[in-house]
Parts: sequence; structure tokens; C-alpha cells
Amino acid sequence: MTILDGKLVAAELEEQMGKEILSLKEKTGKVPGLTVIIVGEDPASQIYVRNKDRMAASLGVNSHIIRMSEDVGEAAIIAEINRLNNDDDVDAVLVQLPLPARYDTWKILDYLDPSKDVDRFHPANIGMISVNRTKIYPCTPFGILKILERYNINLSGKHAVVVGRSFIVGKPMAAMLTNLDATVTLCHSKTSNLGEIIRQGDVVVAAIGKPGFVTADMVKDGAILIDVGMNYLESEADVMALCEEDQIKKFRKRGYGITGDIHKDAFKKSSYYTPVPGGVGLTTVTMLMYNTIQLFKQRRGIS
Ligand code: GUN
Repeated sequence: MTILDGKLVAAELEEQMGKEILSLKEKTGKVPGLTVIIVGEDPASQIYVRNKDRMAASLGVNSHIIRMSEDVGEAAIIAEINRLNNDDDVDAVLVQLPLPARYDTWKILDYLDPSKDVDRFHPANIGMISVNRTKIYPCTPFGILKILERYNINLSGKHAVVVGRSFIVGKPMAAMLTNLDATVTLCHSKTSNLGEIIRQGDVVVAAIGKPGFVTADMVKDGAILIDVGMNYLESEADVMALCEEDQIKKFRKRGYGITGDIHKDAFKKSSYYTPVPGGVGLTTVTMLMYNTIQLFKQRRGIS
């Protein structure tokens, strides 16, 4: 049972990226530029955006946040995207999701220049992933790939079961694992016999947002367990039942505990697993910076 340490993988990548940005600056006189658009006041999104801005600053990425009020209107958001598409100093644009419910997310994402779409959510980029014609991927599944790579875990011929079909994690993850020669089953809320299917997984990626959903009886001995869940629990009974010891201690001080989608007892059966917190969550923002650098290089023809 080896812990796949997201903090370690993120720190190693950040060190390399800091150096690469310095060398790109020497070569071109410029640094990669990332602009994040956030619409409305969703508190979780505000925290994510602040974290992105902090990491950009620490690596020397030129980062901007554009804050728009919830009622700004579709035309104003699209006008802002068009302005950024045409700004040569902007290499990467991210629209923080979820957008307030009144907006049509796909319609707005369609306006992103695919070459500046750092999330890789534009349909053109989704298509490139599915036919294996790109090496830039959505940040969360890309972080998972980097963790598996770092621990020399080869996926060829393995049965990977992905639970959750979001366009942010599950769907791109399934395509990426397929490209790495895994045999992939993509499960979701309408899947019947879910436990039976998960039990066949040599690798299980859980991205559903339900605390402790994948229980010990659903996983096979020696499976590699990747937990994308980030669930905040406020009831003491839930925290005691689902959280690891360190989170139970923290609950006593701050009134909430964090746990993933995979039950702690399931990890005991695994060969490798990503903890929550301390696993996948820590590599997502790192990969956003990584993608920003890749887009900078791609736009300038630097290999
Ligand atoms: N909200 C939650 N995850 C993400 C992500 O990866 N990208 C964006 N833009 N919004 C998110």
C-alpha cells in the first residue's frame, strides 16, 4: 500500500517549471500569460481562483483575474473572451466553472480560441484528445497522469474503471487512459452493477463527489486507487465514519473534515492510492501552469 504523494509530484513539477519560465524569459523576453475570468461570487470558485493566482505569481507566470458580476450578461463575457483571444500577451484563458446557472456554458466556451484554451474544454481540443493528437490535457486528469508517471505505473493492458462522466474529469480521463493502452470502462450514475464493475478494475478513478462511495468490498486486492473527490463533512458522525485520523483531529479544531470518494478501508486493499487531501487535488493547479507554459511555447513555435 504505497501512497501516491501529490504534494511531492506537484513540488517537483513546480521546480522544473520555475526554471523553464526563466529560460523562456531569457530566450524570448516574455513570460507565459494566463487570464482567468470569474463570473459571480461562488465562494469555492473564489478560493480556486486565488490559489491559481498565487501559484502563477510564485512561478513567474503573468497572471490576471477578470472579475465580472453575476448579472453582467452573455455578450459582455463573450466580448471579454474575444478581447483576450486577440491580446498577444495572453497565452492562456480560463473561464472558471461553474458559471452562474443563467449562462449557457458550452455556448460561452465555444468562443475561446482553441489555441488559448488552457482547460482543453473547447470541442476542438476534446476532439484532439479523443484521437490522440495532442499532449495537452485538462488539468485534473493530466495531474493524475503525471502522478502515475512519477511512480512508474504502466497502464498498458490494465483494466481502468473510471467512475464519473464529467467533461472536467471522467470523460477526458477515459480517453487519456485509452490512449495509454488501458482497457477502459466509464461508469456513471445510471450504471447497473457498479460494484461488480469497479471490482474488475486494476485501476479505479473515482470522480463523483460522494464521500466514501467506493467501499472496500467494491475493490479488488492490489488495485491502484485514484481519488478525485474533495468532500467537506460537517457532521461529527460522518467525519468519524469516513475521515482519516488527521482529519478527525482537524475537525475538532475547525468544524469540518475532508474526505474523498473512496472509503478509507478500501485503500487498505490497494497497491497504490492517492490520499485526500494530499493527492490529486494538489496537482490540478500545477498542471494549469504547465499547460500555460505549453500554450506559450506552442504559439511561439518553441519545442
Ligand atoms: N471548476 C472546477 N474544476 C475546474 C477546472 O478544471 N477548470 C475550470 N475552468 N473550472 C473548474
